[in-house]
This record gives sequence, structure tokens and C-alpha cells, in this order.
Amino acid sequence: MASDTVSSPASHPIAQPVSHELRGKVLLVTVDNPPVNALGVEVRRGLAAAIDYAESNDAVQAVLIVGAGRNFIAGADIREFGKPPQPPALPDVCNRIEACRKPVIAAIHGAALGGGLEVALASHYRLAVAGAKLGLPEVQLGLLPGAGGTQRTPRLIGAEAALSLMLSGRHAGAEEALKLGLVDRVGTSDDVLAEGLAYAQALLAGHAPVRRTRDAQGLANREAAQAAIDAARADTAKKSRGLFSPLKIVDCVQAALDEPFDEGLRFERKQFLACLESPQRAGLVHAFFAGREVQKAPETRSAAPRPIESVGVVGGGTMGAGIAVAVLDAGLPVTMIERDDASLARGRAHVEKVYDGLIAKGRMTPEAKAKVLARFSGSTAYDALANADLVIEAVFEDLDVKKAVFAELDRVCKPGAVLATNTSYLDIDAIAASISRPQDVVGLHFFSPANIMKLLEVVVPKQVSADVVATAFELAKKLRKVPVRAGVCDGFIGNRILAVYRTAADHMMEDGASPYQIDKAVREFGYPMGPYQVVDLAGGDIGWATRKRRAATRDPKARYVQIADRICERGWFGQKTGRGFYLYPEGARTGTPDPEVEAIIAAERARAGIAPRSFTDEEILRRYMAAMINEGANVVHEKIALRPLDVDVTFLYGYGFPRYRGGPMKYADTVGLANVLADIREFAKEDPLFWRPSPLLVELVERGATFASLNESA
Ligand code: 3HC
Ligand code: NAI
Repeated sequence: MASDTVSSPASHPIAQPVSHELRGKVLLVTVDNPPVNALGVEVRRGLAAAIDYAESNDAVQAVLIVGAGRNFIAGADIREFGKPPQPPALPDVCNRIEACRKPVIAAIHGAALGGGLEVALASHYRLAVAGAKLGLPEVQLGLLPGAGGTQRTPRLIGAEAALSLMLSGRHAGAEEALKLGLVDRVGTSDDVLAEGLAYAQALLAGHAPVRRTRDAQGLANREAAQAAIDAARADTAKKSRGLFSPLKIVDCVQAALDEPFDEGLRFERKQFLACLESPQRAGLVHAFFAGREVQKAPETRSAAPRPIESVGVVGGGTMGAGIAVAVLDAGLPVTMIERDDASLARGRAHVEKVYDGLIAKGRMTPEAKAKVLARFSGSTAYDALANADLVIEAVFEDLDVKKAVFAELDRVCKPGAVLATNTSYLDIDAIAASISRPQDVVGLHFFSPANIMKLLEVVVPKQVSADVVATAFELAKKLRKVPVRAGVCDGFIGNRILAVYRTAADHMMEDGASPYQIDKAVREFGYPMGPYQVVDLAGGDIGWATRKRRAATRDPKARYVQIADRICERGWFGQKTGRGFYLYPEGARTGTPDPEVEAIIAAERARAGIAPRSFTDEEILRRYMAAMINEGANVVHEKIALRPLDVDVTFLYGYGFPRYRGGPMKYADTVGLANVLADIREFAKEDPLFWRPSPLLVELVERGATFASLNESA
């Protein structure tokens, strides 16, 4: 700090991450708590102490709060949630700021999120510079703005805009914040300190008064506010399936309209604490940290990524085209290879279709499309890949076809090019071993639609070099995907576990549950779709082909349900053929139950000699989840996944697992591993071959430990 830094007098102990110094008549208060200036206890103490100091020191005429580093303040310290609270509480700190008798100005750069924005809202004047991100993302953590945000925001910018920010959790940039009235001024440069000081001086020169957000008149038009609240309540009830905090946010805004400010704050506090204690908050916070933790695979620490400036994609089908779009969207050039001119034209058409869809929705201009496609080229000759830094293969799921492609890549690609396969199940070690440079071969398992789905399994074969794995993680960052490190096995993390719980669902279907009941139970758990709806969406033929391929190696003693095969034999592959497990009359996207499918199921039960029994939704879920968790434990036990949290992230980002439950392994901890194991042992009485408790699950139960303990120790 500069030499005029105010040393802390004994009566005003200043906590370390918040420093203050006098700049003329302005007390510059700097929050410096890396990495993101979260409002941990020391920061809260420091802010309160700085305000006390400003009030008691006559030399101070105004206070300017800024953040050091890349952000203003990213919010409450999420790591403190669930731990015993330490005073001062953030709402008290915000009230202290607002009550200050000298003008307090917040100068915002980078993130002013959650509690960070609430600190700014409690200040009397706000300025933002370009690149600022203002938002109230608490809803994404199962919370609501709990430091006055639900009371001050609607008073400042009106109920409708406040609800939209709080219910979406989205970030607003500096210009939008100005338009909304969230800030008073946007800096002309991005030097936040200079801008903030200039603003403070201008306010002092103009004798700007202390102006408190609690007194702002954004709710003066009561009718408009009530209408916005009613609309938000109806919309939230419809959209935020099973979520706890969104309706509470609406309730808080209602309180802002109906109650005096302090009463509203008390109401907000109560709701905030209820959210804080909910398992949804625990699940969502787990999801937040797990999503960041997966990015830190060991290879990203031990090796530097290879530069990636151009990418090749082999195959222009569903996946190849989607991958090409994902790469183009990241600003990289793409060369697509197909078998023949007709297939190449189809591949290019698949790519164009994505952009045409955006144009039709008004989200892209034809000029922008032309600019993107200028980076796209295609060829039927592998030599076009001679300069590619990375090639992703997405041809038919057939080991020999893939090996032939890799032989070509081995022939044409430059030394050091990364050679990736998008295979869903095949043995990548075998693909790698078939060429002269196995150290360059890695799995990049995208999910369909590849330009949209966030998950990217980075599959790490035995011989791959660490920098190739690091490159895969770097690519994921560029593509804005969430990478999860996986080992080689049949189906890697996600599809391997999926195969097991799908089988559990098939068993239940043959034993008496209808696919419609199973789908409904799974949806009510929080999934957007049930497993049979997913089959119909993806195409029943895909799973059918896999089952046929595996028929020869299937354990003859294992129970095999043939219902899906009977449906596929009729050419009923789901939405694309107008019927599958459901009927899709005239291209409908939502299916209706099909009595003929129910008849097929009844016939199969009879053929297998099964007297159908009824299932409660709760039993369906217990079996479905137990199968998922048990195989998840196996995947961790065999080190296919680094930790349980990698399984969680896989299911959150690739399989629609409800985020507020944190993922299957987090969910298992929530219900108790001993309960899950007891279920498995109970189910094993009927089918001991299928229900074999994972050794890891047994060990954890014996030790009284949780999956979470493995996340921490890894
Ligand atoms: N508390 C604690 N740690 C946090 C944090 C927070 N609020 N926000 C980020 N971090 C940590 C991350 O876990 C990460 O730690 P790591 O390096 O050990 O993995 C590190 O800070 C850097 O984070 P990112 O990798 O996400 O960095 P980016 O630069 O990509 O993004 C960000 C920065 C936009 C600030 C992003 O981290 C973010 O969105 N953070 C969460 C913001 C948020 O949700 N705030 C609301 C909190 S709830 C609240 O304020 C309640 C109040 O109303 C009472
Ligand atoms: P697809 O059948 O839609 O496309 C495959 C494409 O590869 C076709 O266009 C075909 O012409 C082309 N092709 C075949 N042999 C070729 C060769 N020798 N050289 C160049 N091109 C060739 O298949 P899809 O669904 O895109 O799958 C591709 C791969 O991605 C498979 O390995 C699959 O397992 C995997 N995958 C599929 C997912 C899905 O949901 N469809 C999800 C994740 C991975």
C-alpha cells in the first residue's frame, strides 16, 4: 500500500484482506482476498471496521470501495456455508455501510455477484467499468440474495427487473446495469480505481447527499409491481421443477412490496436461513465446486498443453457435425473428412443446419454464418489433415473401421498432432496400440448434441503422454465444456453406469412396472426425461446395435430383458420413426403411451414366466438409484473415475441428473450409504448376479465413511 496508508489505530483494528488509505478526502477501501474477494469473515470485519473508521475520522468525507485483482467481490464465501456462522453477518455489514453518514461509493470491475452486489447496493452510489459482471446468482446455489438483495434490488430497479435477475441468476454487463438503474455511471476507461476516485471527487464537489437504496422508489407503482410478482410466481411454479429457493425469492419481493424495509429484511433472513439448511443448497454447492475440481486433472499440473490452432474432424454424421460446430464456435478452423462426396455434402449440410437454425431464431445473421463457415473446409482425402494440430475421429462405432481411420491419420498427420477418438464404448488402448504413435492417442467423448452438451469425457489410455491429456483439458476450456477424466473400460464413466441402471429399469419393466410409470418416477426425482423417453429421443436402434454386438459375450446366466428388442424389430426406433416406447403422432415431440407396447410387454412377461407385480414410485427410484450408485462406486473403485465427484459431474453435465441433488454419489451420501447397501442386499435376494455390492461401498459402510471423504482425500 502507498505511504499514506492509514495504520490501524488500536481502537479500529482493520482485518488484513481489507485495507484503507486516505486519498485526499476519500477513504479508499480495498478488498483484497484472492482469488475472487469472497466475503469471508475477515473481509466482513474489515468492511465494517473501515466504515467505523470513516465515520469517526473528520478527514474522511467519502468512502470508495474497490476490489483488488480481477473482481470487485464475487459474493459470500461459499466455503463457509454449512459451518457455524461468525459475526458480523453480511446483512449487518451491508446495513452498516448503508447507514454511513458519509457518501459511500462502490466502483465495480469484474464480478460483483451475490453478496458482492449486495455490498454495492448498500453503498450510496455505484459505478461500473467495461467488463463488469453484476448479478445475483444465489438461486443457482439453492439460495436467495440474503444480505438485503431481495429488498434493495426491487426498490432500486423495480420488481420485474429484480425478479428477472434473481430468478435467472444471470450476469448483467456494465451498460445493461446502467440501463436497469443498477449502477449510476459507467466509466469511460477500464481503470476502476481512477474512475472510482474521479466519481467520488465529482460527487463531493457537487455536494451529493447520502442516498440510501432502502428509500428508493422502484416499487412506487404498486400495481405494476404486484403484476410482476404474480407473473413471476406463476412462471416459477411452472419452470423451476422441484426447486426450493425460487418461490422464496418471489415471496421476499412480495414482502418488499408489503412490508417496511426492516421487516422485509427480517423476512428475507428467515427465508435465507431456510434455504441455507436445505439439502438442495448442499447439492448445488457441491455441484459448483465439483464442476471446478474436475478441471484439475493430475496431467494439467504435470504437463503443458500442446498448441491447438487447427482441428480435423473425421466423420460428418450426428457427432462429427456437432463436434465441428463446437470447435468452430470456439473460433478455430475445422477440416472435415468424409468417405465420399455425398457424405461430405451431408456433413457440411448438418453443420450449416445448426447455423441456419440460429438465423431462423434471429440469434445469428447470415453474414456471421458466412464468417464462421469461412473457417470450415471439407475433403475426402486424408492429406488435408497434414497440418492439423488435433484430429477428432467420429466415424461408425466399429473397431476395424476406426483402426483403418487411425492408420490413415498415422500416415498423414504431422508429428505431435493429437489423435482423438469419440468412441462411446470401444477399447481405446487397442486403437492406440494399432498405430506407430500411441502416445498421441486420447479419447474425447462428446455427448449429443455435441455443440450443446457440456460434458466432455477425456478418456486416458495406458500409453498416452501427459501433455496430450493436458491438451484435451485445454481444448475443453476453449470449447466451454466441462471435462471429466475417465479411464478406459466399456462405456467409460457415464455409459458404463447408464448400462447398469437401464438394466435395472428393464428388470422392473418386465416385473410389472410400465415404462410410463418408470419415466414418471424418474422425472419426479428431477430428471427432465425418463430413461425410455431418452431412448426414443436418441433412437432405439443405437442401443439395439450395441446389444446385438454384445450378445456373444453376454453372461448366459445374466437376466436379459427382450422388450426393447421386440420394439426395435418392428422398426419402432422412437421419435424419428413416429413410435418407440411412446407414440409420436404427426411428428409430435412429446410421446403418448402406446397400448400396443403395453401388449408387447405383457407378452414378454408371459414368455418369461413372470407374474407382474406392482411397484410404488418410491421403490422404482430406490432400485434405479441403487444400481446407479453401486456402479458409480465400482467405477471409482477401479479408478476409472478419479473420485466420486467425477461421477457426479459426469451425470450432472451429460445425463440430466438433477443439479440440486448434487449428482448420484452426493445423493448417496445424503440418503446414507448404509441404506443404499441395505437396499442392494435386499434386491440381491432375487437376483444375486445383478445386485453385487461394490467392494468400495461395502468398505465405506464398514468404516462409517462417505463418498465425500474420498473427494477430500484425493
Ligand atoms: N466463495 C468461495 N470461493 C469462490 C467463490 C465464492 N463465492 N467464487 C469462486 N470461488 C473460488 C472457486 O472455487 C475457485 O477456487 P479454486 O481455484 O480453488 O478452484 C476460484 O475461486 C476461482 O473461481 P473460478 O475458477 O470460477 O474463476 P473464474 O474467473 O472462472 O470465475 C467467478 C470467477 C465469476 C467469480 C466465478 O467463480 C463465480 O461465478 N463464483 C460464484 C459467484 C457466486 O455464486 N456468488 C454468490 C455467492 S452466494 C451469496 O453471495 C449469498 C449472499 O446473498 C448472502
Ligand atoms: P453417424 O452414423 O451419424 O455418423 C458417422 C459418420 O462417419 C457418417 O457420416 C459416415 O459417412 C462417416 N464415416 C464412416 N466411415 C468413415 C471413414 N472411414 N472415413 C470418413 N468418414 C466415415 O454416427 P454418430 O452417431 O455420429 O457416431 C459417431 C461416433 O460417435 C461413434 O463412434 C459413436 O459411438 C460416437 N458417439 C455417438 C453419440 C451419439 O449420441 N450418437 C454420442 C457420443 C459418441
